[in-house]
Amino acid sequence: MRSNLTISEQELNEQRAIAAALSKEIIPRNLSFYVETFGCQMNVRDSETIKGLLNTIGYSESDQKETADLILFNTCCVRDHAEKRLMGNIGALKELKDRNPGLIIGICGCMMQQEGMAKKLLRRFPHVSLIFGTNVLHRLPEMIRCVMNGERVAITDRANDAIVEHLPRLRDNPRSAFVNIMYGCNNFCSYCIVPYVRGRERSRRPEDIRKEIADLTANGITEITLLGQNVNSYGNDDTAGMHFADLLRYVSDVPGLKRIRFMSSHPKDLNEDVMQAIAELPNVCHHVHLPVQSGNDEILRRMNRKYSREHYLSIIKRLRELVPDIEFTTDIIVGFPGETEDAFKDTLSLVEEVGFAAAFTFAYSPRQGTVAAKMEDQIPEQIKKCRLSELNTLQARKTIENNQKYIGHTGEVLVEGYDQRGDETLLYGKYQNFKMVYFPGSKDLMNRYVTVRVTDINKNSLIGEKINA
Ligand code: 5AD
Ligand code: SF4
Repeated sequence: MRSNLTISEQELNEQRAIAAALSKEIIPRNLSFYVETFGCQMNVRDSETIKGLLNTIGYSESDQKETADLILFNTCCVRDHAEKRLMGNIGALKELKDRNPGLIIGICGCMMQQEGMAKKLLRRFPHVSLIFGTNVLHRLPEMIRCVMNGERVAITDRANDAIVEHLPRLRDNPRSAFVNIMYGCNNFCSYCIVPYVRGRERSRRPEDIRKEIADLTANGITEITLLGQNVNSYGNDDTAGMHFADLLRYVSDVPGLKRIRFMSSHPKDLNEDVMQAIAELPNVCHHVHLPVQSGNDEILRRMNRKYSREHYLSIIKRLRELVPDIEFTTDIIVGFPGETEDAFKDTLSLVEEVGFAAAFTFAYSPRQGTVAAKMEDQIPEQIKKCRLSELNTLQARKTIENNQKYIGHTGEVLVEGYDQRGDETLLYGKYQNFKMVYFPGSKDLMNRYVTVRVTDINKNSLIGEKINA
């Protein structure tokens, strides 16, 4: 069964007509936009669509906030601090607005979908005139038109969780791109706000995903990252007609596609079929980002993660059997409510046992409206801080251990950037399994695949030399 959760062509055409009319006014006035993105890859991908739409409305991109005619912050609400930082950033824009009354200041992204947030911001910041959530990007032309007519616009409801295809996008990265395969999340991990702000799981249709990838590779992209809050539950909503392993098989032969990455994986849904697909498909990268969150069964239960430590370790073991050079990265939360010293030790021992290539570690922060925020045994900040630092020290040692095994290793690096150190240019990029390598070379190798042999290691990366193939 296919759901018809798509925006009608007529609705999109109306938006296109508004954009075309606006561009006749905006292009002659030479107006520019500045977009700043916070948070995860989803937001980076959303910002590309927002920029693409602003382009069709007639704005050109600028990296100068001070002189832009439209400033937009794409926000994140997964952990705290973000809100305070945003308030500071928005407050500071008042001066620019005073100097240039025509300036449009907008805020978007998942933080705007938090209960009461839009109202609070509109009240507090009279210089903000545009607020929108994550699922109404396609209505940007209409929203900009209203703002230009002097209205203040806020659209943050989730009445329409439709998937919108065929929106323009503006990319900065010529080699690598993010491709959404699904939106939303059904898991309700007890600490997490994402299901509340991004809504229920919706999978894109496989043919739309494949078409997007083919368009990207036709434009020179060779590496894509399939994005979803939990890619392993792709297709569970029955709209796609296939599950994640088959999606990997279905897109893997797109011409020109050298590397397929994906994130994030949920340990409760990463099944044997997906593991087989990783092992069998030549261009699926040997890297799995597999957030463990905690190494203690009681904490995992209270987090509503729906797997045990033992199950997590069994996935690691099985994948290492099937794919010997596979690397794992993870997310870990310390100081979750009720985390005893012993429970924390279980997390340390899991990190010791697995040997992650890298770990993203966080002190638990209560998010309003989530189950964990109401739990009684909250952990004092000071203890969270100590645990975080102990965990980071351990992971730093494990990262170095992991790096050491690469000395003498040879493989292809996709060059993504360079550091100029005096006369020497150090290029950097990743092996297919996500290990970062630095090596001397010339800038014209940017965005190319280069064979590199590892000669030494850094704290967080490898050092190598180019091999002439
Ligand atoms: N507090 C701390 N970390 C969190 N994460 C998500 N919600 C919270 C929270 N309330 C972390 C998880 C998740 C990553 C994206 O952010 O580790 O995997
Ligand atoms: Fe949040 Fe859990 Fe969904 Fe990830 S799987 S987005 S942590 S609720």
